Amino acid sequence: MAYRVEIHKRDGVLSVEAQDGDNLLQVLRTSGISIDTPCAGKGICGKCSVRVSGIEGGPSENERLLLGSSMLGRGYRLACNCTVTSDTMVYTDDSKNEAVIITAGVQRDIDICSVVRKKYIELTPPDIEDQTPDMERLLAGSGMTAGSDMQPLLRRLPSVLRDADYKVTVVEADGKLISAEPGDTSGSLFGAAFDIGTTTVAAYLYDLNSGDLKAVDSMLNPQRKYGADIISRINHTKQSEENLIEMRELITDCINELLKSLAGDAGISCDEIYHAVFSGNTTMLHLLNGLDASALAISPFIPVTCGLLQLSAAQGGIAINSNGILTDIPCVSAYIGADTVAAVLSSGMYERDGISLLVDIGTNGEIVLGGREWLMACSTAAGPAFEGAGLRCGMGGVTGAIDSLAAGPDYGYTVIGNDAPAGICGSGIIDAIAVLLDEGVVDETGKLAGSSNWDSLPDETRKRLADIDKMRSFVIAGENESSTGESIIITQKDIREIQNAKAAIAAGIDTLLHSAGIGYDQINRVYLAGGFGSSIHISSAARIGLLPRSLADRVTAIGNASGSGAAECLLSNIMLKTSEDIAKRIRYIELSASAYFMERYVDNMLFL
Ligand code: FES
Repeated sequence: MAYRVEIHKRDGVLSVEAQDGDNLLQVLRTSGISIDTPCAGKGICGKCSVRVSGIEGGPSENERLLLGSSMLGRGYRLACNCTVTSDTMVYTDDSKNEAVIITAGVQRDIDICSVVRKKYIELTPPDIEDQTPDMERLLAGSGMTAGSDMQPLLRRLPSVLRDADYKVTVVEADGKLISAEPGDTSGSLFGAAFDIGTTTVAAYLYDLNSGDLKAVDSMLNPQRKYGADIISRINHTKQSEENLIEMRELITDCINELLKSLAGDAGISCDEIYHAVFSGNTTMLHLLNGLDASALAISPFIPVTCGLLQLSAAQGGIAINSNGILTDIPCVSAYIGADTVAAVLSSGMYERDGISLLVDIGTNGEIVLGGREWLMACSTAAGPAFEGAGLRCGMGGVTGAIDSLAAGPDYGYTVIGNDAPAGICGSGIIDAIAVLLDEGVVDETGKLAGSSNWDSLPDETRKRLADIDKMRSFVIAGENESSTGESIIITQKDIREIQNAKAAIAAGIDTLLHSAGIGYDQINRVYLAGGFGSSIHISSAARIGLLPRSLADRVTAIGNASGSGAAECLLSNIMLKTSEDIAKRIRYIELSASAYFMERYVDNMLFL
């Protein structure tokens, strides 16, 4: 039996057909509706809420917990929990996706010596005395050897040579001929660097002759619809060959769209781009290459390969010049990927004296310790709480998110996009917990003050404490201030989620230090990599114990260090080789079997 599902969006109404028993989230996805699904439809993140009518059957326990009575009363449900059993109307908020994506990172001064180069040459035309074939003539005239895939060039070569009277520009990669163009085009050579994050994809277009940055763009990773975390995405690809192909196409389409946008902004054609370099975690690079990532998700966590991968653009389905090359920066292990290697490269910590600590906080936190002499790294599962998932009013760093909170009695906040607030993102909640700890509203065990112990609190603070849906909560913005008509609150459960996440990062740092046999006082500098690291307030992160307090004055946020590292590898063959060296030098410390990590995890749950 088929039913009508009427989807009301910001820009109009879409009417689609659904079968009896279809999952509402699936119906929305197949109708092209972009909807946040950090938990991949498991019903535990609370982010796929939509206003519906026509759904039979009441809300589940999780919906009661995650949405609260007020939202349920207004007709909100979790799409992934709803089954279509009659004609249904859905109201989506498809404005939620305007993410603030950090693309800027540190820029080191490096010598430009790109893997791909161009050279203009003038060949002697053939005659009856000289019947050398075209390709042999080109190789002899250029002094190069043939690249691995000459087929595309062989097909075009007769016209390339004759169109410009044997005056041509040859394109080489690592000394091997990969292409030729008629006339002198040596002044035009471009490359693109990509940082493929689990949440966002950042893209940079460079002039490979001058090293100038010509354009920057970014997008949300379209694979998010299969979950915010890599395990959900791997699980999706394990279900069928088609799913793996789809996952690959989602990211290659995204990259090709970004390439088009970069080329448009710079006023060039994608054909002028001859090299693309990719950084990303190990799973993202597996999915980009269509590699089976299943073994990354189960012990003993084995990648198909960690090596530096190079293939032709045509093979990789990436829309640069079809004779161009694609390079993946090497990884270290299943959970220390090319993004970490690239961040170590661009931070410069691998060649510095003294000891540096690099921390990239995300769903997985990657931590690297060391310097010129040695490097070691670990990865710790912080969970999605810092990205707002699983929190009552949590949301990513998108328009409408409260991203900072000041102390009482006013508890002033700032909102991304300066809109009325719709929720709170990771940096906002870290500030909030730091403020509440300082004011004694939250104690060192993470407990929010109750009526039995709030006598010492100022009136303005007490007024914000309430039991909402049977859960102790602190109100940051009242329902009259918010854009949703709901109060923006932090619940006791939210604080527990943040405690788990910060304890995982802090315990990872402690375990690396323990493995190296050093203390905090021996660390000379701390690099905070990644978009989240750039948005948090260091003092608040130190106050809640996400970062060691004694290191707070040594912290430098280095933005999208993975993107910067990818750019360095694009611009310099030496940096690309250095990235290989870094990947080999990093000793990976596995935390899942570490008793010391567990011990420190429990200790770090406290807000000391
Ligand atoms: S996708 Fe529905 S609750 Fe997470």
